[in-house]
Parts: sequence; structure tokens; C-alpha cells
Amino acid sequence: MILLDKENKIFTLHTQNTTYQMKADQYNVLIHTYYGPRTDGDLSYLIRYADRACAPNPEEACLDRTYSLNTLPQEYSTCGVGDFRLPSLELELPCGSCSADLRYTGCELRRGKYALEGLPAFWGGDEWETLTVTLEDRAAQVSVEMYYGVLERYDLITRAVRVVNQGTETVRLRQCASLCLDFLRSDLDLITFNGCHLMERSPDRAPLRSGVQGVGSVRGTSSHQHNPFVVLCDRDANEDYGLCYGAALLYSGNFQAQAEASQYDSARLVMGINPYQFCWTLAPGEAFTAPEAALICSPSGLGQMSRQFHRAIREHLIQDPLAGKRRPVLINNWEATYFDFDAEKLVNFAKAAAPLGVELLVMDDGWFGKRDSDNSGLGDWVVNPKKLPGGLEALVPRIQALGMSFGIWIEPEMVSEDSDLYRSHPDWALRIPDRAPARGRNQLVLDFSRPEVCQHVYGQIKSVLSGAHISYVKWDMNRSLSDVWSAALPADRQGEVFHRYVLGVYQLLDRLRRDFPQILIEGCAGGGGRFDAGMLYYTPQIWCSDNTDAIDRLRIQYGTSFCYPVSTMGAHVSAVPSEANGRFTPIETRGTVAMSGTFGYEMDPNKTTPEEKEIIKQQVAFFKEHYNLIQQGDYYRLTSPFGSGPYTAWEQVSPDGREALVSLVTTSLQAAPPFRVLRLKGLDPQLTYQINGEGAWPGDALMNAGYPLPLFHGDYQSMQLYLSAV
Ligand code: DGJ
Repeated sequence: MILLDKENKIFTLHTQNTTYQMKADQYNVLIHTYYGPRTDGDLSYLIRYADRACAPNPEEACLDRTYSLNTLPQEYSTCGVGDFRLPSLELELPCGSCSADLRYTGCELRRGKYALEGLPAFWGGDEWETLTVTLEDRAAQVSVEMYYGVLERYDLITRAVRVVNQGTETVRLRQCASLCLDFLRSDLDLITFNGCHLMERSPDRAPLRSGVQGVGSVRGTSSHQHNPFVVLCDRDANEDYGLCYGAALLYSGNFQAQAEASQYDSARLVMGINPYQFCWTLAPGEAFTAPEAALICSPSGLGQMSRQFHRAIREHLIQDPLAGKRRPVLINNWEATYFDFDAEKLVNFAKAAAPLGVELLVMDDGWFGKRDSDNSGLGDWVVNPKKLPGGLEALVPRIQALGMSFGIWIEPEMVSEDSDLYRSHPDWALRIPDRAPARGRNQLVLDFSRPEVCQHVYGQIKSVLSGAHISYVKWDMNRSLSDVWSAALPADRQGEVFHRYVLGVYQLLDRLRRDFPQILIEGCAGGGGRFDAGMLYYTPQIWCSDNTDAIDRLRIQYGTSFCYPVSTMGAHVSAVPSEANGRFTPIETRGTVAMSGTFGYEMDPNKTTPEEKEIIKQQVAFFKEHYNLIQQGDYYRLTSPFGSGPYTAWEQVSPDGREALVSLVTTSLQAAPPFRVLRLKGLDPQLTYQINGEGAWPGDALMNAGYPLPLFHGDYQSMQLYLSAV
């Protein structure tokens, strides 16, 4: 519920458990007064004024030395006019000054959720409310529209910003953040999610210290290295306790999330497009829209924060072509064959996989152009007739005849120099004049800031997808952007290329989604190099990591789960020893871990033993039977794989509390182990449960006293407990 007190210019956003408030003060500066557990009333009494040395005072308040932009909590911070903390907006004016100064001019409230043209955004109907607050920089003749979407049920507040040049001269945007959040305290921990290719999104938690700290990407993608999701929380917050603020940016390119603990123990979080090499020209009348940011505050720990994000993402962000239906269990040939496959091999995969209950065969990299290694072929999206005689038109019906559907891999944003596309359009690759471009995986990046490039690539993909019955597409992207310069833009607009590239990707994904609404798209970027809420708007699932080792995956999926739900995490059972690290794990354990993701296989089914086939059959059947619980259930992290404990455990509970699935994987082994119990969460204390079809276990006992764990024998054992209320 959004409350507008127009007379006192107080704007209060209530969600089920939280309240967010801002107020335009006597000088029309928009002050952030509060964000936290649900509270009523005018909270501006929290704002204190004092004469702070060296703090500039704005012109309106020139006689009042206690009034300074540098000490007040701002709703959207400015620069150059007295606030020396992290800026959100920086305008380069025709005179050459870099500054911004904003005053409140109006507001508007309506039912429903705003949308952003060309950008991903949470969506929904009348359960949403939208507040627009307009600010103005009079000297620059620029207005700033700030949008707030409120979805009460999930404590979700979204924000977006649109800057409009209302003047008669061109201005340039040097920075335009999506989110600014000021706190009247700095005793907070910052949690970020970091890593590298094969080890993405490990949480890193540290107390805020004086000055600026944060993460970001300058690689053109959100990156393997840092994720556009961060948390600020009480120092003693844990899974079940403490005030936590999660902030996700719906953006898949260069981002920045910075927190600053400033003087007098206040703090500021600013999140948005990374200002690195960013400069956007706004001619008179033109507007720029910054990507959406999503906030969830949980007064009761990190677990609740995650579950609210999961619900909101599942129900109001992803656009699932199979909504309401089960997504297919797939088998992907990549780790089993790499580039070495042909139609016969694929058909043999399907012949072996179909009887096990696998439903979708995904043909990965190598089916097109001249592509027998990763040195050539990208850009030529036409079937290689040597590998697939008769093309997809011949292959797909053979797979379908075995009762399976068919999916395909593409990497549309890239081009190999050894390709027909590059030979005919060398200027379509990003490169800086007179510099030899850096290759990554021996490929160049197409200039997706150019509509004609996107159009050409889309035309090729469209004809592939129209020619055969394709029900799934894996959209891959295997290098970071370097040599970012576009032949289509003048020198003074090169600062737009990074962002225009992302807009090009979004536009193409949107077309693909609209033209082929029945196709399930899985995002991928060398594994999890672009796993963000922006991509999830277009691709309901994303390949979590190229690392399919079950034990490393415990960490990757654990870190990912802080924001993103199980149903978005691409996860497969692969062969052992693991391609990533050489580790051997039992197939049961691999299944347990992959099942807390989208679930599928990435191994040659013809190389499995009869015993393994039987286990796979059971895994697939179990997954299908408990699909809703696993994919839509409330997710509880029971232990952390980053701790020193001997196992990692997690749990999904159905929304009505009548069913649960507990999964546990042992990660270290010792002889003569102690007796251990695992305390479950989220059950109904009044109910009694059967576990794996047996016994009568009271919910309160399982949560308060716990479940006695068996004494595990052997490396990396796992356990799944299915609980159903009797
Ligand atoms: C990187 C992906 O993450 C892999 O799964 C696979 O599709 C390869 N690219 C193919 O080149």
C-alpha cells in the first residue's frame, strides 16, 4: 500500500512486513526517512540537523548552517553541489560542469506496475501499485522521474529512473544509478557474491568500514566475478534472524554496487550501470531510462529475504513458456562429445536416454558452419551438412519419434574471424581503430549496439528455428567484451556502446521470445557469467556454471540461492571424474545436487552401466513426481557449504507446509563419527510427517530436536528425505 500525504509531501510505501518512506522537505529536497520493519507515521523525526564543519549549505538554506546535503539521507544523491558521498546522478552540462541538483516537483500514484521500454522489469497486474516522484534540476533543465513499484505480498519494492532533457541544449549523462539507499547507521555487513569461471557466486561477508567498498563489472556482462545482487544486513543477522536488505539490479552489462560508510555513522548504497566508460548524450527532448533495481527487506533473516526474492522472481519476473507445466528433463551432449558428434551419435543418445524418462535432447555447440573446434564458425548459423545430413528437418523427427523433444545451442553475440559473416562484414565486430582486437576463445564480439547487426543475426536464427520443431534454445556467450568501439557511432558517443550492446541483446531476446513463444530459452555465458535478474526476464533458466562437479556445485548453488530460485538454476548430472576438477562422486549425490536446479544430464547415456541406468531412471521419476515441491517450494539453507561442517543440507517445503524435501551431501569424512542431528525448518509444528513413506514424525520435534542422521560411510554420500504430512 502506498500512502501519499501530499500536503506534507510524505510518501510511504508499505509492504506486508516493511515500510519505506521519503519526504520532500522545506526546500523540496527529497529526503529518505526510513526503510525497515513495518512502521506507521511521519518518520522524519529521525532526521537530525547540526552545524557540521565544512558542510556546504544550499542557497535556500544559506542562513542555516545545520542544513547540508552532505549530512542528510538523500533519496537520489547528486554531486557537485554539496553532497560529497557516492553520487547517483552526474550530468555534464553544456558549460562543461559536472553536477546535479534535484528538487521535488510532483508525484503520481496508480494501480499496476510500470514497464520500461527495452529493459527487463518485474511485471504484474493490480496487485502492484506504482508511485512516480518527479524531481527537477532547474539549472540543467533536466527532470528525473523516479518510479517505485510495490508488491506488498512479497515485500518487494522496485525502482527505476528516467532522466529527461527538458531544455534546449544537449546534456550528457556521466552516471545514472538505479538505486540509492541511505541509512542512518553504518553498523551493517555487506554481502557480495563473487568468483570466477567454474566457481561463481561465493558469498563474501564483511562489516562496512569507513569509505567506499563494493563490486562491479567492466566486462560488458554482469560477469562470473561479481553478481549484481548485494545484501546489507545487521552484523548479527543469520538465516533466521536480523534485519536484511537485498538489492538486485535487473541488468546484464557493466554494473556497479557500492556502499559507503560515511561520517557520523551513516551509510549509502548506490547501484546501477557502471559509470566506467559510460557517457550518454541527451539531446533536447530525449530521455534515458536506467535499469530497474529490486529491493526486499527482511526483518527476520537472510532466509526470508531469499524466499521472498524467489517467489517474486518466479511469479513476477520470469516469463515461462511452460508456466503451469513441468519443464522437461533434458540431456545435453556437450561434456560427453564436445565438438565431436553427428546425427547418428545424437540419435543414439536419445535412444538410450528416452527409456530412462529423459524428455529433451539438447544439441550443444558444433552443429553449424565450420565448427569442429572453437576457432571458427561463429556467425554462420547454418547447419553443417557433414555432421547433420539433411539438416534439422531430418534429425528432429528422428528424435521426436523416440518420444523426445529437441533443443539447440546458439551463441548469437559472437563471430569467428574464420566465418563467412566476418569475411563479409569485418566492421561488425567490436574493435578500436588501428588496434588489433583482443580475441577471447579465439573469437570477436559482434557490435550489438548496431540494429543492422542484430537484425542480420536474428534473421539467421529465425530461419533455423522455423525450419524444424525446436522446443528449447541455449543462448550462450563465451567471452568478456574488450575493444569496445562501434563503427556506427561518432567519437563523442562511444560512451554509449556498452549499454547499447546490452539493449541489443535484450531486444533480440525479446524478439525471439515473442516470435517463438513456445520455446524455452536457457541463458548461459561460459557457465554462469551472466546470471542476473535482467537475463531472467527473457530466459527463465540460466546455466549456473560450467563446473558440474557436485561438491563444488553445493557452493555455487548455495551462493546463487541468496537471490535466485531453484527453478532458474541450470544444473546437470555429469560423468565422473568431473571434467572441472577430476573428483569422483556417487551418481546418487550428483542427482541430489542437480535436482535442486532445473535438472538434466550431461553425459553419454550409452556409457553408463545397467545399475547407473536404473538409478537415473529412479532419479528422473522422483524429480518428476516431486517437481512442484522442488521447483516452487520454499527454500531453506540448513547449513553452509563454506563452513567447516561435515555436510551441506538444504530443504524445500511446500507452501502449505504438508510436504518437504530435505537434501544432504557429506563433504568430509571421518572414522568413528559423532551422532548428529539435523534440525529442519519451515514445517508445520502441529503436523505429523512420514519420512520416505514411513514412521510418524511430529513437525515440532523435527524442527526443535531434529532428525538423527545416519553414520555415513564413503566419500560424498548423500541423503534425500521426503516428508509428507499424515
Ligand atoms: C560454454 C557453456 O557454458 C557450455 O555449457 C557449452 O555450451 C560451451 N560453451 C560450448 O561452447
